[in-house]
Amino acid sequence: MADLSLFDLTGKKALVTGAAVGIGRGCAVALARAGADVVIVDLNESAGKRTAAELRGLGRKSLFVSCDVTQKDQVQAMVRHVAEQFGRLDIAVNNAGIGILGADEEIDQAAWDKVLAVNLTGVFLCAQAEAQQFLRQSPVEGKIINIASMSATISNCNASYNGSKAGVVQMTRMLAAEWGRFNINVNCISPSYVLTPMHASTPVAVRQRIRELTPLGHVQRPEDLYGAAIFLASAASNYVTGHDLMVDGGHTLNAWLTPLSRSVPPRVAPDEETVQLKHDLDVLGLSYDSDGINPALHPEIADAFKAAFGL
Ligand SMILES: NC(=O)c1ccc[n+]([C@@H]2O[C@H](COP(=O)([O-])OP(=O)(O)OC[C@H]3O[C@@H](n4cnc5c(N)ncnc54)[C@H](O)[C@@H]3O)[C@@H](O)[C@H]2O)c1
Repeated sequence: MADLSLFDLTGKKALVTGAAVGIGRGCAVALARAGADVVIVDLNESAGKRTAAELRGLGRKSLFVSCDVTQKDQVQAMVRHVAEQFGRLDIAVNNAGIGILGADEEIDQAAWDKVLAVNLTGVFLCAQAEAQQFLRQSPVEGKIINIASMSATISNCNASYNGSKAGVVQMTRMLAAEWGRFNINVNCISPSYVLTPMHASTPVAVRQRIRELTPLGHVQRPEDLYGAAIFLASAASNYVTGHDLMVDGGHTLNAWLTPLSRSVPPRVAPDEETVQLKHDLDVLGLSYDSDGINPALHPEIADAFKAAFGL
């Protein structure tokens, strides 16, 4: 039998922010499946409690903690509460993030401030509180995983979103350099376009174009991040720090943005892409069609894709 103990998270105590649905829920499920007990941190109490119950169904300890990651007092209290409930903290995934679309020549400062507050300040406040908790424990050590985006590297959304994500990548490097002396690993994961509630309105023609522009040939799902999350949370990554792990099916490699032809089908068929998206929409109590589309949820994202792709 294979020895997978390097990736085993049995008994580890984790928190994931923005974990009610989407990528955060996916990371929480991945860590729980690898053996960790996981706290679901989110603003959305009803969905967060459902996700915590789902993890308990996997045989792990899980609870929901309400927290706005932009508020330092709430973040500090959240981390203290996690440590009290679980006895310690070993792994933290700082995932909560938002985007507000709009042309940069027009966008108002309130939108800029809000995106930076959640995506950059929120990640910093969480990382700081988590590092403080790791320093209170014996032995001192821990794993911090920040969710950045390919938008840190390419130019595809707008200045607030792309700038905040670039900030997450460089902040990750800085914190990794500073906190290596505490045996704290700080890394980030950069997904591409992931079928989460954020993208629930994107029509099938947009999804098909994304498939054509992605070497591995299918639209990204939260499941496609499971392996990266477990790797960066586990002993398998003990000598990896300050890294930005791009998990994008090769999307950002296709610099010419020309449709790719395939000779074999992708590993994931179109109907398999939406399994977790439909589950997320169930968790949120929202309806969807057979393609997992809810046109009312962030229609501005679907419009931006259609404009960018000329659809
Ligand atoms: N979906 C994508 O295509 C994609 C791609 C690359 C990176 N990302 C990043 O991944 C992360 C998750 O994205 P998603 O698509 O799952 O988003 P989502 O909108 O589907 O879910 C985000 C979750 O975060 C929670 N949240 C929002 N603001 C919060 C706050 N201030 N405090 C606590 N919780 C908060 C929401 O309630 C929600 O449950 C974000 O950082 C996003 O920028 C997403």
